[in-house]
Amino acid sequence: MASLQRPKGTLDHLPDGSPKIEPLTSARWHAFVVDAAKDVLERAGAAFVETPIFEAVDLVKRGVGGSTDIVRKEMFTVSYFEERDKFVLRPEGTASIVRAYLENGLKQLGSPLRLWTAGAMFRAENVQKGRYRQFHQVDYEVIGSADPIVDAEAIQLMVAVYARLGVKETTVKLGSVGDPQDREQYNAYLRELFGRHAERLSEDSKDRLVRNPMRILDSKSKDDQVLIDELQPKAMLDFLGDDARAHFSAVRSYLDAWGVKYEVDPSIVRGLDYYRRTAWEIHHDRIGAKSALGGGGRYDGLAEELGGAHTPAVGWAFGVERALLALEQEGVALPSADGPLLFVAALDEELLAAAAKVAMSVRAVGRAEFAVKARKPGAAAQDAAKKGARFLALLGSDEAARGSVSLKNLESGEVRDVPQANLNDILGGTR
Ligand code: HAM
Repeated sequence: MASLQRPKGTLDHLPDGSPKIEPLTSARWHAFVVDAAKDVLERAGAAFVETPIFEAVDLVKRGVGGSTDIVRKEMFTVSYFEERDKFVLRPEGTASIVRAYLENGLKQLGSPLRLWTAGAMFRAENVQKGRYRQFHQVDYEVIGSADPIVDAEAIQLMVAVYARLGVKETTVKLGSVGDPQDREQYNAYLRELFGRHAERLSEDSKDRLVRNPMRILDSKSKDDQVLIDELQPKAMLDFLGDDARAHFSAVRSYLDAWGVKYEVDPSIVRGLDYYRRTAWEIHHDRIGAKSALGGGGRYDGLAEELGGAHTPAVGWAFGVERALLALEQEGVALPSADGPLLFVAALDEELLAAAAKVAMSVRAVGRAEFAVKARKPGAAAQDAAKKGARFLALLGSDEAARGSVSLKNLESGEVRDVPQANLNDILGGTR
């Protein structure tokens, strides 16, 4: 039944114990990745922001860039009555965060401003392992500084998040896409070089030759790759002007000083148009060369492109699903979940409300659940064990008359009669 299928390229995030659960579909694994990033980023002074899941088409076009695959082929447009096709499900977070920064006057919070967010992003891509139409990113942005030390710190933090997750086989590939005039020169060189063999390029790359020749280098087409191997084009790094070159070497020397490992990738091409100077990706040895764990770079021109004042900035995002694939490849185990502190069961139907009320008041000190039907003591003990509870409280008519419960410590087996009024003190002290 088609109606019982989730849309292609999406995943459900399910609770522990679901059939066929794997890290990718586990709600707890997703939360684990985001929580680890939150901890690393907030310790570095980043503040959490959240922007709408849909944005004006124009923001995305101007932000991400008209020559990118994202804008040309992968936008999920959203329309509703009277406002047709003016919106798009956000394909990434940076343009939205810069918009929010400008619109809400966040410059007043001081510079540089470190921000982070996490959430669903949407790209209508060809679905394959690690490539989805709804995926999730953790995104970090530092706005208001042109200093190379913030580029280097951003890279250090990305590496720190992966280290915190326990993922070891990562490689940072660092490059520079130069300043706009450097890029123009490089694009002119590529246009000339590939232009001589235009008939051998794929249809997409013929188009790229006109709009943005650098993107040819990133082509997935076999014909293009053969031609690239044959022509051996010079790399972007060879075209850096003095300023971009000095910036790049300063970023490198900070990373070297902090012992952050990276490889220089002379021909890094990112899939978004807003980058200037520093650009990098972080890769995992076993999830495939074409699927980066994450990427980022400096985007000093984006705020102006969106109509704001010149605002230098740098940032990165990584895909939560890609992180989960890497964790799975490396066999990293998720810490086991805590069960409830207390499970409460009534021995008679008439005592159900009272038993539930006991659980509700214990929630002031910890997780407490109750059986929704009257249970016999043995069945209640089985329910509690299945949930991994630490204590079981049984409420029969004798206990109810005394205002107590029969409390069993499921680890030691000890049972005692405990006044309901004392439960929170007793259980609160056991955590
Ligand atoms: P991006 O390289 O387009 O950069 O995406 C960052 C990461 O998101 C990728 O490395 C990948 O892990 C994940 N990702 C992208 N597309 C998919 C997909 N279809 N399925 C699964 N995962 C995916 C950006 O989005 C920039 N906004 C990063 C940035 C922030 N630059 C500066 N600040």
